[in-house]
Amino acid sequence: MDDIQLFNADVLRSPHALNKRLREQPVYFAKELGFHVVARYNLVREVLLDPKTYSSRITDFFQKPLTMRFEAASPETQERITHIREQLVHEPETMITLDRPEHAMYRSVVDKLFTVSRIKSAEGATQKVIDKILDAAGGERQSSESHPVEFISKIAFPIPMTVIRERMGVPDADRELFERGAKIAGDTLHMRMYDDEELVNRGQIDLDLQRMLLRILDERHREPRDDMISILANARLEAEDRPLTRGEAVSILRQFLVAGQETAASALGWGMLALCEHPELQDELYANPDRISAFCEEILRYESPVQLLPRIVTADTELGGYPLKAGDVVMVRYGGANRDERTFEAPDEIVMDRAKIGMHMAFSAGIHYCIGAPLARQEMNLGFASIIKRMKNFTLDPDKPEPEAEPSFVMRCLRHLHMRFEWR
Ligand code: HEM
Repeated sequence: MDDIQLFNADVLRSPHALNKRLREQPVYFAKELGFHVVARYNLVREVLLDPKTYSSRITDFFQKPLTMRFEAASPETQERITHIREQLVHEPETMITLDRPEHAMYRSVVDKLFTVSRIKSAEGATQKVIDKILDAAGGERQSSESHPVEFISKIAFPIPMTVIRERMGVPDADRELFERGAKIAGDTLHMRMYDDEELVNRGQIDLDLQRMLLRILDERHREPRDDMISILANARLEAEDRPLTRGEAVSILRQFLVAGQETAASALGWGMLALCEHPELQDELYANPDRISAFCEEILRYESPVQLLPRIVTADTELGGYPLKAGDVVMVRYGGANRDERTFEAPDEIVMDRAKIGMHMAFSAGIHYCIGAPLARQEMNLGFASIIKRMKNFTLDPDKPEPEAEPSFVMRCLRHLHMRFEWR
């Protein structure tokens, strides 16, 4: 297994063959990187269901490259960034990088934003967003010609971006800044490197986004409406018998931007690619729209928008007979688990009537199970139902570059998907 290359650009673009090799043993130790990797379904699940032994205190993993980049910047850039940071209201960690009991404290507040009834009652609003975005996809409605569209930027990203902005309650007037800030928040998971000017630029947008969210929180505190910001602006942390601070509220909202857009855009993108590559799926879903939900679950399993996240071992233990020490870092590969041949028959195929549909761990498992899963499922189900109902004959655009995945360690997302379609 010495030839395994976790950071090879081709592997980052398509990790499935690597995952298969990683599953040959319970845990793989990446010597030169100093971390362990787990990709088998039962072992990934074991880790996720034991948050006491496997901690989510993983801020360093995402922060370290940023800190190193800051230290490598020119003194002038450092000064400008420090000046920006000094103006930020402190945003404490909430949810994804916390363990119990703090995690449970915040999660109980955020659970109120994603209740089944709240999500269900917003179905009409999500549908409206989707209809509007599809209407703008291009081409004459009556013509039987095939129309070109770049699906990722025109459809896949705008759907979750608009839905979350509306659900949060960010007004249309703030849309531009919100979208710029949301894009930068989403980039956190890519851990990219930027030049000095871009670092400062991104820092300033972060600050502008925070100021905007704080302003809306204050407005909704005074005059609540039916939106997420209003609930957070007036929420209490029962465990500490105090109101949620403005910094905590912004931290929670920012997490929705980090975790809730590119993930959903990715799922929509991979679903559309599957439709382009498998015309028989298009026919099957048109004839049987009740199978769209199974299709969405299979896409989540098959491509897993979040490929992996780390956990930190808190006490000496063993995983599948493999010894781990306190302090060890374990990379948990959801994407590897979701194609484990021990759990799923024909794991490398989209099988809509498989027995274990929905048993995937694309949304994780245990206490950090994706809080936005019902919203993401709504976006996917309504999105594909509308696409299948209103459009047909999806093909890749032969005149444009082929679809290509973003080379990313954590995420699995298409950079672009140039396709053609006809209106029904
Ligand atoms: C297809 C779309 C999505 C996928 C594949 C996805 C995936 C995930 C995964 C794998 C985790 C677990 C992290 C862990 O194990 O530590 C997670 C957590 C989370 N997700 Fe999602 N997500 C999606 C959509 C969303 C949406 C739409 C939102 C909100 C608007 C959202 C908000 C969150 C938050 C706040 C957490 C942290 C939960 C916690 O730590 O308790 N996600 N998501």
